[in-house]
Amino acid sequence: MSERTLAIIKPDAVKKHAIGDILSRYEKAGLKPVAMKLLHMAKPVAEGFYAVHKARPFFDSLCTFMSSGPSVVLVLQGDNAIKKNRELMGATDPAKAEQGTIRAAHGSNIEYNAVHGSDSPDTAQFEIGFFFPGMEIYDGR
Ligand code: CMP
Repeated sequence: MSERTLAIIKPDAVKKHAIGDILSRYEKAGLKPVAMKLLHMAKPVAEGFYAVHKARPFFDSLCTFMSSGPSVVLVLQGDNAIKKNRELMGATDPAKAEQGTIRAAHGSNIEYNAVHGSDSPDTAQFEIGFFFPGMEIYDGR
């Protein structure tokens, strides 16, 4: 079933010049970018995006990291896009991520883990709407 997921190439991966490699992994896996932008999140924007993690001890540090430099935010579309992207990313902690995954290749630690991907259809709906109004999502190819 074709579905959409929200992906973020985080500031650590952008600083490492890994945008091209990560985009290529999405495309080779059949995940088609249908919306994409590079932006430098203000800290309150990161806090809004990660509001679900507000009570976690790492929340402030996570939002400081996510607002430390530009990210690429994108909507990926394809069959089972949510699950497929999570497989491509690997485990949250790069030390536990399987060889060949994005986090194994580009992540540094459980916080600086290179990429984000929605974890469920409800989350995807919230996260896509957070960054992209419908008119910015291009579904014509
Ligand atoms: P992400 O998939 O974007 O979802 C929440 C983020 O919080 C996660 O990736 C990590 O960047 C970060 N995170 C999750 N667990 C921890 C942790 N134990 N310590 C620090 N950061 C974490």
